[in-house]
Amino acid sequence: MNTFRLQLRFLVPLVLTLVAAAYLALPLMDRLTLRWFSRDLDLRGSLLANALSDSIAEALRARGMARLQTIFDHAVQDERLVAIGLCSVDGQLLRSTDDYPDKLTCANALATAARADHLLRIAGGPVHVGAYPVNDESGRVADLVLLHDMSFIERRSQDTRQYLIILIAALGATIAMITVVVAQLSWRGWVSGARALLRGEGLLRPLLPPTPELAPLAADLRTRLRDLDDEYRRIHGLQAEWGPDRLRSLLRTQLRGDEIIVVSNREPYIHEHAPAGMIVKRPASGLVTAIEPVLRACSGTWIAHGSGSADRQVVDPRDHMLAPPGRAEYTLRRIWLTEREELGYYYGFANEGLWPLCHVAHVRPVFREPDWQAYREINQRFADAVVDEARSEDPVVMVQDYHFALLPAMIRERLPRATILTFWHIPWPNPESFGICPWRREILQGMLGSTIVGFQTRFHCKNFIETIDRTLEARIEHEHSTISYQDEDTFVESYPISIEWPSAASMAAWPSIEQCRRNVTQRLGLAADQKIAVGIDRLDYTKGVIERMQAVERLLEQRPEWVGRLVLVQAAAPSRSVLEEYSLFQQRIGLLAEHINQRFGTAEYRPIRLLMEHHERDAVNELYRAADVCLVTSLHDGMNLVCKEFVAARDDERGVLILSRFAGAAREMTEALVVNPYHVEDCAAQIQRALTMPEPEQRERMASLRMTVREFNVYRWAGRMLADAGRLRLRGRIEARVQRHHDA
Ligand code: F6P
Repeated sequence: MNTFRLQLRFLVPLVLTLVAAAYLALPLMDRLTLRWFSRDLDLRGSLLANALSDSIAEALRARGMARLQTIFDHAVQDERLVAIGLCSVDGQLLRSTDDYPDKLTCANALATAARADHLLRIAGGPVHVGAYPVNDESGRVADLVLLHDMSFIERRSQDTRQYLIILIAALGATIAMITVVVAQLSWRGWVSGARALLRGEGLLRPLLPPTPELAPLAADLRTRLRDLDDEYRRIHGLQAEWGPDRLRSLLRTQLRGDEIIVVSNREPYIHEHAPAGMIVKRPASGLVTAIEPVLRACSGTWIAHGSGSADRQVVDPRDHMLAPPGRAEYTLRRIWLTEREELGYYYGFANEGLWPLCHVAHVRPVFREPDWQAYREINQRFADAVVDEARSEDPVVMVQDYHFALLPAMIRERLPRATILTFWHIPWPNPESFGICPWRREILQGMLGSTIVGFQTRFHCKNFIETIDRTLEARIEHEHSTISYQDEDTFVESYPISIEWPSAASMAAWPSIEQCRRNVTQRLGLAADQKIAVGIDRLDYTKGVIERMQAVERLLEQRPEWVGRLVLVQAAAPSRSVLEEYSLFQQRIGLLAEHINQRFGTAEYRPIRLLMEHHERDAVNELYRAADVCLVTSLHDGMNLVCKEFVAARDDERGVLILSRFAGAAREMTEALVVNPYHVEDCAAQIQRALTMPEPEQRERMASLRMTVREFNVYRWAGRMLADAGRLRLRGRIEARVQRHHDA
């Protein structure tokens, strides 16, 4: 499609140029032929006049008018000569043949003969007028006027036009053919050209018979294509400025506008019954933050668990609703689960088994057979929904996270030609840790149904490849980061996820930093000069909330000057509270906050402000903008988007980010104060450093962080994955084609 468009872009101007050339050339051609023939007739006339001159002079001398008439009648038998006239030197017409135009005076005839074209239009058609002197010994005695027929010139001119048009058309067709071939080979890059030639696409298709002689070349070509793919991947990674438009154009060009289906457990909008009526909530989920803008740009279908109490009320009979509510940019398909199913698949296998298994946060994973059964069943239900939603045999399906490890192979079974991109948002542990999962083989086999498996960091990719190596009989090509299992290839790559960089319009609508600070201090009853540290998390034991509070406690212990002057505002959205581990964790946090507040607080001052409730985006943004310090102290995190959101919110380039070295984000955000959250003293020291950091240093660090997050935004994340998918799809088509040649 891309090449076709490129060719069109080249051919249309070419055709227009040729038409313009013809438009300009034809009148020029007419003028030239007229001049050539005119000169020819002039020469002819002058020869005739010379031949007749003596006879005419003699007849004039003898006043033999009858003789003159005979000479003229004889001469006019020449088929080109239309008429003859004889003018006296004082401009009187002395004699003329019958066809000589009545209205043509001698003066007019001589004037026309003096013009370059000699052309005169008379009733019988165009004529060439020539005037030639008739001399005797005394000098000029008369002027002979010869009228030659010129209609044949028009006929010839028409013929010439036709030849010229045919010539230009033939020239155009030849250039167009060359253009198409050149476009195939060079505009799409010689790789694509070679691919198209192999496929027999474009103009060459009818000319390309099955060519077994290509077979020996094919293996070399495939290897070369892989190398070029790698090269491209490296270069592509350096390109800047990803946004919705670039993502859309990538979809059009590299994926030929193929449909996108996203599958995740968490839905982007949750409809709930509330005392005041129905409300729509945005879940506290990094996954949702990242995927939503991509879906809005690509307008595909998002399949997710309908978990809200009022979700069923707003869907159509196919369980669809248009999202975002009121803006209708993509389709949300809700999948319903019973409480028992949710308990087994989501709370059980995903969050008591895989979550602690992958996070290695010192909470024991629990694996139960019934949870595994539920996990399989629900994965199958989502796979069926994907098949149901697919409008083609080869949709692009983006499978999100650890809830759906079995889904890729299940989709592959029903839609063998689908391109399946699985993104694992959480860490992947080392093979020993993963080895404790009783269904490790099934999980890995499920994931290898994917075309691409993506992780947040190279380190997680390495762990995954090693786990495969230890668990399955798969061939691993480390150089190309590809796993071949049961004749299918899976490409493993790191794609660090990110956020949508806020638009200029949305930033302009934000309340000022001072306003945000005023709002927060007033709402929480803080003093205006108190330093605000914020933590924004789901209530999860992996987030290091306890360690963060302990660090604040240690700082207050070590540096009592901060007592009364430092507050940690911890927004903690309750999460997975059905699970004991989570409800206990929630209690522990409450108790620790109480303990610290009792130890250092007064009636007016509480160093820890725990906001254990869901916060909507604007409220979170207000906290980011009001803060002096943002604490992200995860014990282990795939990426963590809170730190990226904080940086995006600080258009004043102030505020300090403290970031755990165990969050994937630490690899990109090196200008943060990077800490080991398990090391409470070090964390306390870094909080001290952040609170006293001079403004120029804050600005320098923040400006650099902002540049990174802005460039490495979520469109780039999705774009890199989809671009890789596009190339792999293309490669698949070439290989199928090469295979057909082999088989032929
Ligand atoms: O980190 C993994 C993840 O899926 C995130 O993408 C998301 O922020 C979080 O878990 C959401 O958890 P849940 O959907 O269970 O509330």
